[in-house]
Amino acid sequence: MTRHLLRDDDLTLAEQTEIIDLAIELKKDRWKLKPLEGPQTVAVIFDKSSTRTRVSFAVGIADLGGSPLIISTANSQLGGKETPADTARVLERQVAAIVWRTYAQAGIEEMAAGTRVPVINALSDDFHPCQLLADLLTIREHKGELAGLTLAFFGDGMSNMAHSYVLACVTAGMHVRVASPEVYAPREDVIADADRRAAETGGSVTLYTDANEAAAGADVIVTDTWVSMGKEEEKLARLRDLGAYKVTQELMFLAKPEAIFIHCLPADRGYEVEAEVIDGPQSVVWDEAENRLHAQKALLVWLLRQE
Ligand code: CP
Ligand code: NVA
Repeated sequence: MTRHLLRDDDLTLAEQTEIIDLAIELKKDRWKLKPLEGPQTVAVIFDKSSTRTRVSFAVGIADLGGSPLIISTANSQLGGKETPADTARVLERQVAAIVWRTYAQAGIEEMAAGTRVPVINALSDDFHPCQLLADLLTIREHKGELAGLTLAFFGDGMSNMAHSYVLACVTAGMHVRVASPEVYAPREDVIADADRRAAETGGSVTLYTDANEAAAGADVIVTDTWVSMGKEEEKLARLRDLGAYKVTQELMFLAKPEAIFIHCLPADRGYEVEAEVIDGPQSVVWDEAENRLHAQKALLVWLLRQE
């Protein structure tokens, strides 16, 4: 059966673990698996800007023996003239998988519905599940077993990253804390889905308005830009509202002494995180960025095996 990755809880704990285990293997031996040899083509479509996602999918698809076809929506019919469903009907006869970075989650769900090849969400307004596979790989490398660890997220709790941390980390059996002003809290339906998953895995999700309380004793400290793509018009309000949730060195001191700092990047130094934290000894952001490659290759291999 064709499987897709549209949001983080599309994967069970066992499936998420299988993909991260495979990513660890592929990181040790980058050219070990060639499921796309031929080469088969994978379409990678962008409605929004990207550095990491574009490069890691292009390089990863080539590593797997395939050929990446990078499409910018601005130069395709998808940007308004043709529906996601019709686009998928055209692509599925020619490509092995479709990767799409877009705005509305509903669009990527339409793209995947009834499509014969795997569809991968490369970031929507609501979720960024590829980033989370890389982040979980990074946390495992630095902290070992994921289950039982505490991850604290600071800032825009409504962002795609906050939603993905909630769903993916709870799936992994972790304890997730989200510190934000009440009006920037994660969506209620996402919290409800996370609570259901937590009951199966032993994880948990807790919302905070006090940043210091959320940081206390955490294993992983994380933040994201305060102004996500598509939110540029809210920039001034967001800089004003989220100032108390900046990750500072003082905040890091409240976490465990061996805590790590992660950030999906790109980062706005001086806003959501101080330079001394992101450029300091507890930061593992460059490992995290590299791990996009290994995690997405493992995801592609795994999805192609399910067909
Ligand atoms: N983290 C991330 O997805 O980066 P890009 O926007 O550069 O792809
Ligand atoms: N929340 C950010 C993530 C960028 C990778 C955005 O959507 O712009």
